[in-house]
Amino acid sequence: MTHRTSVRFFLNGQLHEVVPSSPTQTLLNYLREDVGLTGTKEGCAEGDCGACTVTEATLEADGKVHFRAINACIRFVPSLDGKALWTVEGVAQQDGSLHPVQQAMVDCHGSQCGFCTPGFVMSMYTMYQNGDVKPCRDEVLDNLSGNLCRCTGYRPIIDAVQSMGSYPAVPTDVDAVTEQLKSIRPDSTVALESNGQRYFAPATAAELASLYEQYPDAIILAGGTDVGLWVTKHLMTLKTVIYLGNVEELKVIEQNDSEIRINAASLLNDAFPALVNEYPELEELWKRFSSMPIRNSGTLVGNVANGSPIGDSAPILIAIGTRVVLRKGERRRELALEDLYLDYRKQDREAGEFVEAIVVPKRRADQAVATYKLSKRFDQDISAVCGAYALRLDNGKVADARIAYGGMAATSKRAISTEKALIGKQWSEETVRAAMDAMGEDYRPMTDMRASSDYRIKTAKNLLLRFYLESTGAADTRV
Ligand SMILES: Cc1cc2nc3c(=O)[nH]c(=O)nc-3n(C[C@H](O)[C@H](O)[C@H](O)COP(=O)(O)OP(=O)(O)OC[C@H]3O[C@@H](n4cnc5c(N)ncnc54)[C@H](O)[C@@H]3O)c2cc1C
Ligand code: FES
Ligand code: FES
Repeated sequence: MTHRTSVRFFLNGQLHEVVPSSPTQTLLNYLREDVGLTGTKEGCAEGDCGACTVTEATLEADGKVHFRAINACIRFVPSLDGKALWTVEGVAQQDGSLHPVQQAMVDCHGSQCGFCTPGFVMSMYTMYQNGDVKPCRDEVLDNLSGNLCRCTGYRPIIDAVQSMGSYPAVPTDVDAVTEQLKSIRPDSTVALESNGQRYFAPATAAELASLYEQYPDAIILAGGTDVGLWVTKHLMTLKTVIYLGNVEELKVIEQNDSEIRINAASLLNDAFPALVNEYPELEELWKRFSSMPIRNSGTLVGNVANGSPIGDSAPILIAIGTRVVLRKGERRRELALEDLYLDYRKQDREAGEFVEAIVVPKRRADQAVATYKLSKRFDQDISAVCGAYALRLDNGKVADARIAYGGMAATSKRAISTEKALIGKQWSEETVRAAMDAMGEDYRPMTDMRASSDYRIKTAKNLLLRFYLESTGAADTRV
């Protein structure tokens, strides 16, 4: 195996070849401390506020350059190998005049104290680079879902985004970016070592499997939207990190007539559209899952493997019968997703065994499916309760029911007693109310800062009723 011991990326058009001060040095720290680009701000250091937003470009298997807004505060420098980045300092035109996204912010009075402004500008710049220059309001809100502003009340910023396409166009030389990215394409394993910390970025799944067998105590790093916070907020030192984001074969989403296989390095923003295409009922969950920059870095398999009891993907993936593919060395085995989770942060995974993929069954024609997330804010908030339902009827009777909740137990968990109370019965309000009573046997939720136990059990029951009302067309309770 040939190893490279430095990391290469383009920053505002210039090649940087660096040996980071630590494998977990953040991009924000690199920008501000090492190269003096202080336009990128630190607000929260946990992916929430967007003050650190920068634009990332990657050259992908379709041969195209993809631009994405990402949070620099929780992104480790080595994971930028092979990519191109722009910060707010790289946005203005060659002659020094403002880029349309900047001019629109000025003209619409989109900045007051200015602290959030570079982050908003970079979210807008990313949209601009993607050709999304005349967005409707919903597109604007989705793209700005990771940017917070305490001063403007947002209206002038939304106006700026909607008007950026009315200025003389400033096209990007995509061919030049493509050539730059080709020149630094990661083709061999990156291996770094400093301060007693090790970092590996293998280029193939086989190397990844072999490295993890060799270092079973290593932390697998995917998008780092959970792991990043262990470093920035919990101040943990990660001794060995194995990054899977350079493994091209694990970015692929494969489909056949009966299932969708989502591999470990597929981004949330690539995996969710594949799921929503099959299960349109998941669209709202997708839009409410974290924010645009988090979905641009984080992976769906990372959410599953993280195994948080309040993770949003597991309930619906369990309800629709998802399996996980576990790999250790060359050995693979499959488990029903619900069987992966044994207890709080305890999984049926051996040392050195990682999640290579999840396999999601395609929908059956007679299936009713829904998932509902309850949280205090629409965007960028953690669920208090997340319910998911998949049901089949036969002549008005429940032939099959799979129900799972997040936020109700130490893991995402199926509601077996509730399901039993439904199966074989008429799909009626009376049956559903009896099943709601049975739910008390499935869950004893905790009280914490997000919700009380009482709130959780009441709302979980009522969400089942909501599912019934919506599935029968008796009510559309969506707002
Ligand atoms: C601001 C913010 C908002 C968020 N909002 C939401 C939300 O609305 N809903 C929600 O559910 N989550 C949310 N999250 C959590 C996080 O974004 C998700 O859990 C994300 O899907 C994690 O994916 P990742 O690729 O970033 O994982 P990482 O951070 O790279 O890894 C997460 C964990 O999984 C392990 N891991 C990753 N991949 C594998 C693998 N293939 N095999 C074995 N282990 C693996 C890692 O070792 C680590 O323990 C949010 C996070 C932030 C910072
Ligand atoms: S500093 Fe708040 S998202 Fe990065
Ligand atoms: S202008 Fe002050 S935080 Fe947005």
